[in-house]
Amino acid sequence: MKPILETCFSPSLLHLYDLNDRIVVIIDVFRATSTMAAVLHHGAHAILPVADVDECIRLGQEIPNSITAGERDGKVAPGLQYGNSPLEYPREFIEGKTMVLTTTNGTRLLHQCHSAEQIITGSFLNLGAVCDYLIQQQKNVLLACASWKDRYNLEDSLFAGAVYDQIGMHFRMNCDSTRAAAHLYRQAKSDLYGFIQDSSHFHRLSAYGLQYDMEYCCKVDQHNVLIQLQEENGQSVLKVPAV
Ligand code: MLT
Repeated sequence: MKPILETCFSPSLLHLYDLNDRIVVIIDVFRATSTMAAVLHHGAHAILPVADVDECIRLGQEIPNSITAGERDGKVAPGLQYGNSPLEYPREFIEGKTMVLTTTNGTRLLHQCHSAEQIITGSFLNLGAVCDYLIQQQKNVLLACASWKDRYNLEDSLFAGAVYDQIGMHFRMNCDSTRAAAHLYRQAKSDLYGFIQDSSHFHRLSAYGLQYDMEYCCKVDQHNVLIQLQEENGQSVLKVPAV
């Protein structure tokens, strides 16, 4: 029998899903999971996702060759060295480093999904790698949208719709959130960036002049790496799995 694929539109709905037998795909298109794809594609050693800013600063002081990064409400959080932009991390800068990262919604959702059988992260920048992996694994999948402070957002559902559009035939699906996401994606896919410009987080980040970030986050397969949560030295880190 084919495995199941479902979509959760908000962390506040996570309690409705059993994560134990699932691959959970964490989705935060604007911008956490897009930044993760850029950073790891450019050769960072790992990303350590942490829930709060103080812990981020502390770990940044402890871990050799690390940087602290992240945001609160879309702006670089005071005390952190760098922000949450996928364009901030060229290979010349990030290669070999460990990024300690804390964001408003994305890293929070990662922690909320700790009971999942496996966790990977997804964005348009690594859509192909996510789809290939899910087909190959043949396990139940939950597409988990980070949303904005528990409120529905368009960009994460568009990504869920894109995944279903590409690989839905390999799964059983009876989930109206997935259906809605797929309808939305089909409407938007010929001009994702144009479509997304009337969305709450686009308006929020545009107010800080971050349109280039969002345009970049709409590029498909620009940083096509699989990103998986793994254990390393007693810590949960995001890495590109060794082949
Ligand atoms: C988040 O995790 O909430 C985001 O990625 C926010 C952002 O930096 O746009």
